Formats: sequence, structure tokens, C-alpha cells
Amino acid sequence: MTRFTVNNNPVEYQLPPDTPLLWALRDASNLTGTKYGCGIGICGACTVHIDGVAQRSCQVRIGDIEGTFITTIEGLSDDRSHPLQQAWIAENVPQCGYCQPGMIMAAASLLKETPNPSDADVKNGITNLCRCGTYPRIKKAVLRAAK
Ligand code: FES
Repeated sequence: MTRFTVNNNPVEYQLPPDTPLLWALRDASNLTGTKYGCGIGICGACTVHIDGVAQRSCQVRIGDIEGTFITTIEGLSDDRSHPLQQAWIAENVPQCGYCQPGMIMAAASLLKETPNPSDADVKNGITNLCRCGTYPRIKKAVLRAAK
């Protein structure tokens, strides 16, 4: 058994310790906002915060992070009132939308570290992939949220 705090709730998983966090969140906690894209740590669709730091949850085994505080897109705000969510809506960022939860989680981590990012900070700080090519709108939304 492994224990965590997920979106401020205590959680116990009866899963093998090598289970990727992505699948524990999606299958055991039904937190399906965290997406599976590549499964090899490249795309970032599975990005969540572990103790406040953005990480690709497909690459994290639950047995290695027992006792941590995990935040998923569902835990970022109760009502889409987070400045990034508001900026995402205002800039009409998503196209297909699949990668966007991971993008927002990566952006939230970036703004925590760099509250007033430059264009280059956004480009270098968010390495998630978007097959629809929404990068220009993502950058605008991050800069809007930072104001
Ligand atoms: Fe984890 Fe792509 S699914 S990085």
C-alpha cells in the first residue's frame, strides 16, 4: 500500500509499487484530466505537480514517492478560477485540447518559479508537446496570467 495526498485528500493505493503515477491517478483515483500521450516522458500530457514541482507522471513509480503531495489539473482550482485557466479561456488556447491539462500544470510550475517570465522563459520552461501547434496561444496565455 502507498499513501499520498492527492488534491488535498488522503489517498491509499493498493497497487504494485512500480505502477506509474499516471495510471494510479487515472485508474484508481479516476482523475482523468491527466492524460496519457507517449508514455516515455517526452510529450508532457501526463504532467502533474509532486510537492509543487511539475513532473511527467508516466515516469514516476508510486513506490518512489510515498508521502508526497500531488496536484492534478482537477486540484488546481475548484471552479476554473486559477489565473492560468482564465487566461487559457480568454486566449482560446485549446484546439483538440488533449495536451492542455499538462500544459497548464507545466505553466503553473513555471509561474511559481518565474512569476514574470520572458518569451524565452516560456519557450524554454514549458517543454510539453502540442500536435495542434497551439504554442503561440499558450505563450500569450501564460504571459497574460503572469500580469
Ligand atoms: Fe508522460 Fe508523454 S505520457 S510524457
